[in-house]
This record gives sequence, C-alpha cells and structure tokens, in this order.
Amino acid sequence: MPSDRTEQLRNIRDEVAHLKASPLYRERVKNKVYPVIGEGDHEAAIMFVGEAPGKNEAEQGRPFCGAAGKVLDELLASIAMPRNEVYITNIVKDRPPMNRDPNPEEFALYAPFLDRQINIIQPRVIATLGRFSMAYIMEKFGLGAHLVSISKIHGKEFAASASYGQIAVIPLFHPAVALYKQSSKADMLEDFKILQKFRK
Ligand code: URA
Repeated sequence: MPSDRTEQLRNIRDEVAHLKASPLYRERVKNKVYPVIGEGDHEAAIMFVGEAPGKNEAEQGRPFCGAAGKVLDELLASIAMPRNEVYITNIVKDRPPMNRDPNPEEFALYAPFLDRQINIIQPRVIATLGRFSMAYIMEKFGLGAHLVSISKIHGKEFAASASYGQIAVIPLFHPAVALYKQSSKADMLEDFKILQKFRK
C-alpha cells in the first residue's frame, strides 16, 4: 500500500504532467522530454530545492542528474549522506528553453506544487540551491528581511516556522557554480557540513 505521502506526491506528479496552462508544457511536448517532479525519501529530514531542470534532467525526468548533479552527489558523499535519504526537487518542474532562467510567471505557476511538496514531506531543513530558490523559500517563510546576496549568507542557518513545526532554512550555492568557478568548491564542502546534524 502506498503511504499517504506517496499518494499525495503522485497526485502532484499527475497534475504537473497535465499542466497545459504552462508555456513550458508545449516545450516539453515538442522536445519529447519529461517534467521533473522530485525524488528521494518521502519522509526526508532534508529537502534540497533547486531552480529548474536542465537538459539531462528533462530527458530523464530526474532532478540533478547532469553535471550539476554530479557535484551535488560529491557534496552529499563528502558528509556520507546517501542521496536516497534526502528529497531533491526544484521550484519549476519543466525545463525552460535554452537553459534560460525561469521567468516570474513560471515561478508563480509552479511554486504551489513545491509548497505542497514541502507540506507533504515536512522536512526539518530546507536547503536551497542557488539564489532563486533562496529568495523564494526565504520570502515564503518570512525571512525576507535577511535576504541579501548569497555570497553573504550561504551555509548559514535561519530558523523559521512551517505549518507543521519549526524548520531550518539553509541557503547553499547552486552546485553548477563549481563547474565554472572551481574555487567555490571548498566553500560548498564547508557549507554542507552543517547538514550533518540533521540526519535522521
Ligand atoms: N539545476 C537545477 O536547478 N535543478 C536541476 O534539477 C538541475 C540543474
């Protein structure tokens, strides 16, 4: 029997699959690719939130399975955190064409699905990957006053109240940054250490 959480997450998957209202839906059909809903433990203590799927992700229907995903895997391995113990998703569930940043309308259209994923999985920590998800999650949880450049607050822990209890929001650099700025890797490795204490 699927758990209640699994059932609710399936509903989200089905709704996104039929999201014809999205301009990215047409791109998905045209390119014969998939939406990327999220994957991992439905009872995860830690949820990672990226921005939007890239080419590899849309082809496979899985988050962070391309070059940035390799970096994320390395960062998880550095703290001996198995990928299947966390939940990984994005704000936007379809790939924007030409790898452009999602636009405000796209964020607004898909964010309610992320909000529901958060309420279903009820993570104790939301680790944002990159500035877009940092901004969305911090605003959502009333942390807007602390929202400054990611270079100032990466790896810091912010306490917030979710509908289901107290959580920590931790802004992290997007793993893709390490692909063009090798020197950022050391900061990322250091930042990931803070996640260790939230292991189930
Ligand atoms: N970048 C993201 O923000 N999300 C992915 O799933 C892959 C790359």
